[in-house]
Amino acid sequence: MSRSHLDPRDWERAQHYIERLFAPEDTALKRTLRQSQRSGLPPISVSRAGGKLLYLLAKTVSAQRILEVGTLGGYSAIWLARALPPGGRLVSLEMEPAHAAVAKKNLAKAGLAKKAEVLTGSALKLMQEMVRSRRPLFDLVFIDADKEEYPDYLRLACRLVRKGGLIVADNALRRPVSLEDAEISEVVRRNGVAECNRLAAAHPRLVSLIVPVLGKGVDGMLVCLKK
Ligand code: SAH
Ligand code: DHB
Ligand code: MG
Repeated sequence: MSRSHLDPRDWERAQHYIERLFAPEDTALKRTLRQSQRSGLPPISVSRAGGKLLYLLAKTVSAQRILEVGTLGGYSAIWLARALPPGGRLVSLEMEPAHAAVAKKNLAKAGLAKKAEVLTGSALKLMQEMVRSRRPLFDLVFIDADKEEYPDYLRLACRLVRKGGLIVADNALRRPVSLEDAEISEVVRRNGVAECNRLAAAHPRLVSLIVPVLGKGVDGMLVCLKK
């Protein structure tokens, strides 16, 4: 087998090529990462290509209402909110008040305070409330919070997204998921990401695929269209 495909330097070159050409970072995005780091947030925002994919997918469905699950410092929220037309709205859910505070500042500095709202609390509870309150459906739901709850987030997202809308989930190829089935340990079998991927693959109302994304190594976005 040719080793060239496995050489991490090739992946890095491809990553930088894609980032330079398709996902330039402006001052607002750079500042968001800098402020997140200074505030002690973990460096786990989506990659530049991941951000651009979110933006592209939101544009593809002409999203006017977007729900994000897991805000952190607001990096992916900026990519998503920028895809909205005037009057469009992003609602982003965040458990940690400290993260939400950093995100709100970053969104305001990016000129998106009017378009993006950060709700602090348990995403599961907030999404269940949304289902109960029968508010207007979303055009896109982006899932990126705690991985254990991914299967429930997918089920709830399916109820909160309109027909023809998209559900996207980050980290679909995190390392344990990509192991061969035979190697999957008890721990990994309980891995919510793998279960979410299987749910999406088998779901009668969803057309789904994992799109690999180059960032820090290779990860993937699960992309599901609601039929
Ligand atoms: N989407 C962000 C990264 C999110 S990291 C970006 O790409 O920029 C995951 C975030 O989910 C963290 O901020 C974490 O505090 C939050 N989170 C974890 N569990 C949660 C829960 N149960 N409800 C809401 N948010 C949660
Ligand atoms: C990690 C990366 C993520 O994108 C995420 O949402 C959670 C954790 C990580 O690299 O640990
Ligand atoms: Mg993530």
